[in-house]
Amino acid sequence: MLTDSGPKPLIPQILLGKGVALLLDGQRPRLSSPQTMGQMRKDLIDLWIQQHKHLMEGHRDFLLANRVVAVQEGQGFRLARDADQELLQLALEESIASTPELLDVELPSDNRIYRKIIGLERYRFLFNPRQALALGKLVGYVRERANLLSRSDAEFGAAVAVYLAFGLCRIADFNSILTSWNERQGTIRDTLGAYYKFRELKLDGVYAEAVVPYRTVEWVFEPDAVREIAGGICPVLKELAIRLQDVQGENIQVFMADVLELSHHFQDIADVINVDPPYFDVHRYSDFSEFCWPILQATLKDVLPILFDGRILFDWTPEVTTVPRHHELIGQMSKEEEFEDQLARALIEMRKVLKEDGLFVLWFSHKEMRAWKAVARALQRSGFTVVNVIPLVSEHPTRSVTGGGKAGIHRVLVLVARKAVSGLEVDRDALRERFLEQLRRARLFPHEQVSEAEENSLLAALHILFNPNQRG
Ligand SMILES: C[S@@+](CC[C@H](N)C(=O)[O-])C[C@H]1O[C@@H](n2cnc3c(N)ncnc32)[C@H](O)[C@@H]1O
Repeated sequence: MLTDSGPKPLIPQILLGKGVALLLDGQRPRLSSPQTMGQMRKDLIDLWIQQHKHLMEGHRDFLLANRVVAVQEGQGFRLARDADQELLQLALEESIASTPELLDVELPSDNRIYRKIIGLERYRFLFNPRQALALGKLVGYVRERANLLSRSDAEFGAAVAVYLAFGLCRIADFNSILTSWNERQGTIRDTLGAYYKFRELKLDGVYAEAVVPYRTVEWVFEPDAVREIAGGICPVLKELAIRLQDVQGENIQVFMADVLELSHHFQDIADVINVDPPYFDVHRYSDFSEFCWPILQATLKDVLPILFDGRILFDWTPEVTTVPRHHELIGQMSKEEEFEDQLARALIEMRKVLKEDGLFVLWFSHKEMRAWKAVARALQRSGFTVVNVIPLVSEHPTRSVTGGGKAGIHRVLVLVARKAVSGLEVDRDALRERFLEQLRRARLFPHEQVSEAEENSLLAALHILFNPNQRG
């Protein structure tokens, strides 16, 4: 941050890794062993935000508001050199000269994840000059390629652009001023990683950015990965393509609809409904997807009609800068009755769409039994009978997404149900046996053993699914 007496750090020390820290209290940063952790100057954050915004508007005087202090090299770090700061300056010069295609939208005030940083005001201010430049260039490039490709094959061009745009979202996620340094793992905590951990985005006075051109693009897409993958987009897409290659394209239609109005559009037509609803209070999808939407929107601008025209069955258009929020199904902490009501309304709509002998499949996971109770009761209220429950591995244990974390639940249960009719019997003992057998096989890695605590939680959930009205 810039003060009358020169640049001042917002925090006195950055932990870089085990036993190594960067001290910022003197004239020049120095590498050292960690000291007692000093406080971040929260009172100066607003001032810093103003300076950063001036910089992003092209005022070079504020360049030192974003200062490079350490660079990761091999397994370690080195102090930043003047040349590193100069590179940041060059990016600023270039971005002023070229005005990168960046997404000049306001941060939506009703989005909870922006609450603490709403002073940043505009989406493009979530990035420093270099990040904005890299992202803007990539957005422009993909947009141009999408245009070109879609001229010869509209659907194909649009589809390729969608996956490339997903990759750009990931790049933005790892290259914003809202990332942080996870010194324990020696990795960047991505922007949305802060959302997963704290439910909101934060400015910590220090951020870490990835090297976009040579490392991050490769890592995000992994175009040449064969055996080992790090979750890149190309291997996942390849797998999808292999599994779907025999599906006849002409028979597929994709719609975007509000589940609470589904029966206005379809009735009694579905053989199978497969739904992965929000897991109670776990995520507010609108909030965090709005971090990605400006990038998707800018990158896909020219192919939006190919992707969306005639496919949106409710009051929203992809030209608006916010994502749909109306009717979003989400439970709030300690309001399980509300969630149950909303879910029951959604299930009643889906029941109307399902044929009489249709199969209903619902995915759910949560570590709290009151969430399972809400699901069990909603199923019962909407006239479904659960006929099978299959446990599958869900998310990696390091992601505390299902409210799990270390002590939580890392399996998702696939609930198979039918319309409740008299005479529909379920052999619960046999189902429980099969469930336990499948649970033992639902392993994340070959030697994983489902913990006793998790097995007990899942069995309790199973019990609730068959006894929704039981107290306790
Ligand atoms: C658990 S996620 C499903 C994720 C999905 N399986 C996937 O892999 O992307 C739940 C989804 O339900 C959507 N949702 C919430 N309320 C909705 C509504 N009223 N109508 C339609 N979708 C809704 C959320 O936006 C979110 O994408």
